[in-house]
This record gives sequence, structure tokens and C-alpha cells, in this order.
Amino acid sequence: MAPVEARPLSEVGSTDSAAVPTGLAEADRALGGGLVPGSVTLLGGEPGIGKSTLILQLAAERVRSGGRVLLVSAEESAAQVRLRAGRLGAVHDDLWLVDGGSVDSVLDWLDDVRPDLLVVDSVQTVHVADEGGAPGSIGQVRAAAQRLVAEAKARSLATVLVGHLTKDGSLAGPKVLEHVVDTVVELTGERHHALRVLRVAKHRFGPTDEIGLFEMAADGLRSVGDPSRLFLADRAAGVAGSVVLPTLEGHRPLLVEVQALVVKATTPHPRRSPQGLDGRRLALLLAVLDRRVGIDLGALDVYATVVGGAAATEPAADLPLALAVVSGVTGRPLDGATVALGEVGLGGEMRQVVGTERRLREAARLGFCRAVVPAGTDDLGHGIELVRVATLAEAAASLGLLPSA
Ligand SMILES: Nc1ncnc2c1ncn2[C@@H]1O[C@H](COP(=O)(O)OP(=O)(O)OP(=O)(O)O)[C@@H](O)[C@H]1O
Ligand SMILES: [Mg+2]
Repeated sequence: MAPVEARPLSEVGSTDSAAVPTGLAEADRALGGGLVPGSVTLLGGEPGIGKSTLILQLAAERVRSGGRVLLVSAEESAAQVRLRAGRLGAVHDDLWLVDGGSVDSVLDWLDDVRPDLLVVDSVQTVHVADEGGAPGSIGQVRAAAQRLVAEAKARSLATVLVGHLTKDGSLAGPKVLEHVVDTVVELTGERHHALRVLRVAKHRFGPTDEIGLFEMAADGLRSVGDPSRLFLADRAAGVAGSVVLPTLEGHRPLLVEVQALVVKATTPHPRRSPQGLDGRRLALLLAVLDRRVGIDLGALDVYATVVGGAAATEPAADLPLALAVVSGVTGRPLDGATVALGEVGLGGEMRQVVGTERRLREAARLGFCRAVVPAGTDDLGHGIELVRVATLAEAAASLGLLPSA
């Protein structure tokens, strides 16, 4: 082995870490441009969320732009992959498939096919012959990943490994898997909704605060370029208990609808049912509404949700959530052109949140003309009227949600 030498950092070339676009706009957005040659990306996600679909689309796009891909499907038979590829329009001569097998056979195939993208579905099902334990065991998964990482670096080969997530959301197999790869992305979504979010948890070649948004359709995952429009498409006007929040996913502003339904409790312990929202924030806001706004929810069930399978667990969701509950209790709707954002303190006071400017610009773009915001918010001239409020009670009153005393 050649001796290791130190050299000035300025003499180290940086050209070989340029990302190659994947051809899927939203994947490129999440990954900060695409896949870097020689880098290894771990794609995690719950069963059935669409991992195999995504990698097959990535493979097909790479082939379409003149590349070669080796797809190792240790999880499904070649016939199954062929069936899916037919549905996704991904059948191509330069897309090579190996079903099943060991890491050693993958390495042999790399020499034969000489791909510029290697995809392994999944890293938990390829086995390493000279390593003990059953496929999927910690030792096996670690050894398989380490071999593939070494190979990716040696060949400057972009590699994507699919990994399963356990029920609690952590990657099955050792945590060490996340350390050996360069990038960890996760495909998430509500199983019964079409929306899929690609999130970057770790990235050695770019930022981790971007997301990619897709919609699952019969012909695969489609990039959602204008998610705000999608989330608001079916909003009914004039219904009580609905408030629009300009939320932030990473750097990206998204408009989502927060809804609350408040009904008489059927048990001595009223239900608090948050979906896509933080349950502890909901409990806290109900307490603030009781003490600071004088709305007693002690005998009422509260169902609260973010429509469309989206999530809003950030502090800015406090105000729209609390207002949706107030509107749900009093039966008075907000007007359809208003958005709300802001953190609510225990004293019922409003606090500013990050990224207000980006949020308001997105709201204005979609035709909203009024925003209820914390008192200190600067007016940066987005063509949107700001209703500045110091407290939650003031917000509810200014929107006409409270019955006149
Ligand atoms: N004909 C179809 N039309 C529309 N959607 C489909 C169709 N067939 C499958 N799907 C979608 O694809 C999903 C399965 O995707 P995929 O096999 O890529 O998931 P996965 O994450 O690889 O799952 P696993 O963990 O089992 O490997 C289904 O849950 C469904 O949403
Ligand atoms: Mg799969």
C-alpha cells in the first residue's frame, strides 16, 4: 500500500465532488443538485412507502441521460421488478438487473456492467459470504455496507442503498450504517395519502434543510413543484375551524390548512386527537385558551389535523391551531383570504417565528391578502396586509371569532 502523505489543502482538487442531476426535480432539490460520483446514499423509509419505486425512477432517468445503471434487487424477483418497471416506463437496455445475491456477486457484476450508478435494494438483504450471521443481522448489514462504500469510493461510483426502517422510525440494523454512508435520506408520508416527502437527515455534500415533494401515482412518484396549490386545492370556503398556515419545511414555504373539529365529549376524559400536529402543543394551547381567552374546553373533544397528509409541528403552527379551535367552538369561520402564524406563550402572548418574510411571500403569491402575525413583525411590503396582534385573545377578537360580549 502506498504511504499516506500530507499535502496542502489548496492542492486538493474539488472537481470530483460535483453532483450529477438525477433527472427528478424534487430529488435534486432535496439532495442539493443530485448524486455525487463516489458517494453513497442511504434511502430509508417504512415498508410500502415507495423506496423501490423511487430508485427505479432514478435508475431510469440516469439511463435516459446516457448513463448505465446496475440495479441489485435482493428483495424482489426479476419478474417483479420488470413488472414495476413496465408500469413506470423504466424498461431500458442500459438498466441492468441482478436479483438476489451476495456482495461478491455484485462486485463481479460491477466489473462486467461498469455502471455509473449502483442501486442496492435493500442493504439488509444482500449477504456477505465470509461474514457470519443471517442476512439482515447487524454484522452482515455492516459488512455489506462497508464493502459497498469502499467499492463506491474506489470506482467513483454513485451508489444508493435502500434500508428498511423499523416501527419506531430508526434504521433497522446498526446505527453504524448511517456513519459509513455520505448521505442519509428518508422517504416519508402517510400511507393513505399520495404525498411523499424526501428528507435529508445527513449530507456530506450539501445542506440538510431542503426537502423534495412527490405525489404517488400509478406511473410512479411525480415531482410536486407547487405544493401550496396542491394542499389548498380542495379547501372549502366559509367553514368554521379552518385556518391557513404558511409553514416552512426546511427552507421551503408551504401553505397548509389546519383544521379543528370540536364536539361534546362522550366520555369523562375528553379526546385530544392531533394529526400532523404536536400533541403537547395542542394540550398547551387548550390550557392557554382556557386561562387567557376564557374558552373552556373541559367537556369537549378536540380533533385537529393538517389536511393532505402534511405536517406542521413547528411553533408557528400555534396561532393557526388555536384559532382553528376557537373558530370550531364558536362556529364562526375566518374569511378565506387570511393566513395566520406565530408562537403562543403560556401567558397568551404572541411571539415571532423564523422565516416570516418567506412565508408571507408565498401566501401573497397564492392570493392571500391578510396575515395575522405577532405584534413585532416588520412590514416588508409583500402586498399582504398585516394584522399585528400582541395576544392570542386579540387575534381571535380581531378576526371576529369571539361572540360579542
Ligand atoms: N398500480 C399501482 N398504482 C398506484 N400505486 C401503486 C401501484 N402499485 C403500487 N403502488 C404504490 O407503490 C407502493 C409500493 O411502493 P414500493 O414497492 O416502491 O415501496 P417500498 O418502500 O419499496 O416497499 P418495501 O418496503 O415493501 O420494499 C404502494 O404502497 C402503492 O402506494
Ligand atoms: Mg421495496
